[in-house]
Amino acid sequence: MGVEISVVPPGEVDADVVAVAVSPDDPTLSPELDARLQEHVRELLAAGEIRGEVGESVLVHLERAGSPARLVAGGVGPREEVDADAFRTAAAAVARAAGRFGGTIAWALDSSLPLPELEQARAVVEGIVLGAYDPGRWKTNGVPPRPIERIAFVTSDDATGVAETAERAARIAKRANRARDLANAPPNELTPERLAGRAAEIAAETDDVTAEALGPEQLDELGMGAFAAVARASHNPPRLIVLRYEPPEPLRPDVVLGLVGKAITFDSGGISLKPALRMEDMKGDMAGGAAVVEGLAAVAELGLPLRTIGVVAACENLVGGNAYRPGDILRAANGKTIEITNTDAEGRVVLADALWYARREGATHVLDIATLTGAMERALGDLYGGLFANDESWRDEILAASERSGDHVWPFPLHPRYRRYVDSAFADMKNASDLKQGSPALAAEFLREFAGEGPWAHIDMSGPAFLERSRGDYLTQRGGTGYGVRLIVELASSLVG
Ligand code: BES
Ligand code: MN
Ligand code: ZN
Repeated sequence: MGVEISVVPPGEVDADVVAVAVSPDDPTLSPELDARLQEHVRELLAAGEIRGEVGESVLVHLERAGSPARLVAGGVGPREEVDADAFRTAAAAVARAAGRFGGTIAWALDSSLPLPELEQARAVVEGIVLGAYDPGRWKTNGVPPRPIERIAFVTSDDATGVAETAERAARIAKRANRARDLANAPPNELTPERLAGRAAEIAAETDDVTAEALGPEQLDELGMGAFAAVARASHNPPRLIVLRYEPPEPLRPDVVLGLVGKAITFDSGGISLKPALRMEDMKGDMAGGAAVVEGLAAVAELGLPLRTIGVVAACENLVGGNAYRPGDILRAANGKTIEITNTDAEGRVVLADALWYARREGATHVLDIATLTGAMERALGDLYGGLFANDESWRDEILAASERSGDHVWPFPLHPRYRRYVDSAFADMKNASDLKQGSPALAAEFLREFAGEGPWAHIDMSGPAFLERSRGDYLTQRGGTGYGVRLIVELASSLVG
């Protein structure tokens, strides 16, 4: 959905619907809303027809002919608690209410709220674009909602600032939706090759971006015995996807952001086979890679002056006559040996080689992002990813970026004493432990062995990457969420900000 942005002064609203944020039991309304509409909303509040709870939306048809002929009140919860997530959720509810008629939404910003108008505008765009996403692309008989074509912000504030912020948010949210498309695409369509094709497409249409995709022979030449082993059982060959963004005038030529993504296009578990229930959701096990591909594309599209490299390990984890087995000992590109004790712990094995490659290609600040452990989802649910890092200031920078972006992360510990979990009697390390403890930390400890020198962080996004069901906020659709795209852009911005 390509949504257009405009900014209009109060009194010049011409839209299919005018939207306004409403708080419970609070007659204070956006001063940008015309007096007649304010009165109307107050009556509805007093009558209890509008309550203003987060995520509630009430559509009212106005008596007057002409436009706007409809009003939608989007609940943002108590005024003093209003944050960006509340706005995103309200905007998504408004988008759903407006999905019947589409067209232009005029959104009256509210200078009397604790959330600054620029942040309101950004959150509204994110909520509308992400909230209107339709995962049912493969249905042949659906009635598509009418697209929301334009968001017109009503404000007497700085129009240029609002328009710039909103346009930027729209581009990024659109990229997040492309990442959702990739996660939702079925594994028979989205093979490693097709994901590489998407990277090539991005390179073809984006200035200063190049893409490369290494196949099995090249992986062997590089000595990537870990990644190659995981990929081996599938007839769909693996791809190490490498995207490079080289801005003409980097602000910090000494910094290369290295984004590393796990892209298992389908994770059956391999010989350590997964149970059947919801195995189909393992088509989303490439969500980290999708975030890297679309996130890097967004960084380049915005022209951020930051050299960035994306390395995505794309393959399938299947069963077959030449599948890798428990007991196998693999040699990774950095020379370390890995005893496989569980073929379902494949993400860390492919990332081992991808991390090494990112460093080899000059990444100074590395962030890997992966649907790595089911335990991370059990710990944090569907809202937060878990963050691990070998460097405190790198961790804090990512943490701060995540809060601003809406892709939430929460810090978890790395500690050398977790290393014993991956000690092997035969090799340098094993890929899984039989102790049912601390598996996200164990996986992070494993990755650390391959992260090389310099700041590195790992986000385990198993919970928020792919939803079993609506999260009850602005992500109401089952399936991919685009988690990580907004965070990557925010992080890149903060590095050059
Ligand atoms: N892709 C899964 C992790 C996962 C599970 C992500 C559920 C999202 C939802 C990963 O490859 C995996 O299977 N991890 C295992 C590791 C274990 C065998 C040590 C897990 O967490 O169960
Ligand atoms: Mn697995
Ligand atoms: Zn996996």
